[in-house]
Amino acid sequence: MKSKEIRQKYLEFFQNQNHVIVDSASLIPENDSSSLFISSGMQPLIPYLLGETHPAGTRLVDSQKSFRSGDIEEVGDNRHNTFFEMLGNWSLGDYFKKEQLPWFFEFLTKTVGLDPNRIYVTVYAGNEKIGVERDTESVDLWKQIFKTVNIDAKDYDNAEAEGMRDGRIFYFGDKKNWWSRSGEPANMPVGEIGGPDSEVFYDLGADLRRHENSQWKDEPCHVNCDCGRFIEIGNSVFIQFIKTKDGFEPLKQKNVDFGGGLERITMVSQGKDNVFETDLFANILAKISELSGKHYRDNMRAFEVIADHLKAACFLMGDDKGVTPSNVDQGYIVRRLIRRAVRYGLDLNINNIGWTKDIAEIVVNDYADIYSELNRNKNFIISEMRKEEEKFQKTLAKGMKEFSISDFRFANEKIISGVDAFRLYQSYGFPIEMTEELAIEKGLKIDRQGFDEELKKHQSLSRTASAGKFKGGLADSSEQTTKLHTTAHLLLAALRQVLGEHVSQKGSNITAERLRFDFCHSAKMTEDELTQVENIVNEIIAQNYPVVCEEMALTEAKAKGATGIFESKYEEQVKAYKIAKDNKIFSYEICGGPHVTNTGILGKFKITKEESSSAGIRRIKAVLE
Ligand code: ALA
Repeated sequence: MKSKEIRQKYLEFFQNQNHVIVDSASLIPENDSSSLFISSGMQPLIPYLLGETHPAGTRLVDSQKSFRSGDIEEVGDNRHNTFFEMLGNWSLGDYFKKEQLPWFFEFLTKTVGLDPNRIYVTVYAGNEKIGVERDTESVDLWKQIFKTVNIDAKDYDNAEAEGMRDGRIFYFGDKKNWWSRSGEPANMPVGEIGGPDSEVFYDLGADLRRHENSQWKDEPCHVNCDCGRFIEIGNSVFIQFIKTKDGFEPLKQKNVDFGGGLERITMVSQGKDNVFETDLFANILAKISELSGKHYRDNMRAFEVIADHLKAACFLMGDDKGVTPSNVDQGYIVRRLIRRAVRYGLDLNINNIGWTKDIAEIVVNDYADIYSELNRNKNFIISEMRKEEEKFQKTLAKGMKEFSISDFRFANEKIISGVDAFRLYQSYGFPIEMTEELAIEKGLKIDRQGFDEELKKHQSLSRTASAGKFKGGLADSSEQTTKLHTTAHLLLAALRQVLGEHVSQKGSNITAERLRFDFCHSAKMTEDELTQVENIVNEIIAQNYPVVCEEMALTEAKAKGATGIFESKYEEQVKAYKIAKDNKIFSYEICGGPHVTNTGILGKFKITKEESSSAGIRRIKAVLE
């Protein structure tokens, strides 16, 4: 089955189980300062997993664009991509284990046609310390499910030490069978949600002797062993707990968060053992081959890095909240992806300047019918890709030469000094991670601390601070964040009054301490304009405007003049928040919430900074005092 068919059949399968198909949310989180990108399907749905009502109901199905920067270095291992599509089905306090597990099994074996004999599963072993039981319920369900295909599914503990034996179901603990954005229970910050999960693995076959030829050959092979024989193709997370100061509390509702990588399901369905050998990459690899005159089979790593990174860059730039390559935050990641791809292009002797945009064209063509934003933003993708490549092409070859002939300051210790690494960064545009990688290839190390010090000295970047964000953490749903979220609506309305109707929101980022808000406007705001905006917002706060949530069809909301980023076209119903009093509508925005119910409780609004964010985009930082 082609990937397109698998995606479509998955959505339809769950639609037939009364799920509503929802569009993928943007790759750039909204009102969530804890991470730079959406890295799993649950992230945009957190408010609903916590109990907000979703306009499309309690059963949803989607294919969510996801990006994991933590996997940049993993690309090339046969199963990791930085950008991937996560097929997801959701029970928002609706169905639970006894529906979820058989459904997914049926999808895999009947719809996709996988051989049930190659399917293995894991379940949560329980943890008394946090008061969460061993998941025998899922084990009983799996036994029944396997019985329907005449498999006697035996369950075992301790696979890491004792291997598979004749088992089909394996218990694992916190590290493997508990899911939250920050991993196991002990790593979850207060307020984060998660729960036990049940993962499904596919056996790629013992015949290839992966295990015997791997570094784990002296240990038993099992589903979670990294030798490559088994691949995880889906994970049903039973999100039902929230971390508190004292431990874990059950959520108001029991949720199912299922996530399965389309690339991996496609891979096993197409009988391949490498995600890059599926139709999801075929056109891109063919183009790289054409550009380089080389064969994929002889240069797998370079081809895979280029294909993965440029596809990811296209999706990040082609998002409706499109990212421009830069030196900070999301922009830095896009820069890193493009530059790393260009460097691998040099390894393949691809010399014609502007080649990356040829790949971008392919990506847009391959995906535009599913993700129409790529088409809408095609010109932006192509021109930014081109600019970024050209900028780097100018210095790359010289930088590589410098790198290879440099007598690094601590040559004896095989360490590249911070000053040298910084020069490669400053003069030749080498992302530090790329220099690090080049160093490893040559058996060298980098004085990373020295580099960071140099960087600080030059005060050119704030990106080191943002690197911490990738560890994940919570989309804070505290009262203060909710207040600032409502304040963002007031701010937008006030900006439109003062500066004009051309002002629209380009992004926002909220922590418990402050609000950061990006909007389009070409000029720096004057002192007077800033004061006017502050005064308007404070006036609306003083007048105790009620904040009312209405649900209606998207078309109706638009007709009534509600503004908002319409990327999530939840089929029909959307939520619109109205801040209005005495027939005077101050703000009317399509938004998932949550919000306070009255502006009166917000406190005093103060703008702390107004600055440029990128070309044509201004950024305001503000607080509530
Ligand atoms: N949220 C789960 C994951 O990302 C499904 O694996």
